[in-house]
Amino acid sequence: MESEKDLKNEKFVVSICFGSSCHLKGSYSIAERLKEFIEKNKLENSVELKGSLCLGMCVNGVNILIDDKLLSNINCENIEVVYEYLRNKFINEGDK
Ligand code: FES
Repeated sequence: MESEKDLKNEKFVVSICFGSSCHLKGSYSIAERLKEFIEKNKLENSVELKGSLCLGMCVNGVNILIDDKLLSNINCENIEVVYEYLRNKFINEGDK
């Protein structure tokens, strides 16, 4: 059973697919942008950025698994969708 302390230390995992198809579609650039976003917003203690193997949805890559939700067709032009998700989860919540 997890203690309250363990739960507090648990990070929110964002997994970017680095399978060959997503890699060719730019997952590395997306990872770099997400890393910058996390640093800029000081979310390092809350969000862990990970790479994953193929998530099985190659046609819809780049795929990102975030909060058990699969975001598909992510690219550098629409990465704002992911930023918005993280803002709503960690930044805007503090304003409520
Ligand atoms: S390579 Fe990313 S889902 Fe298959």
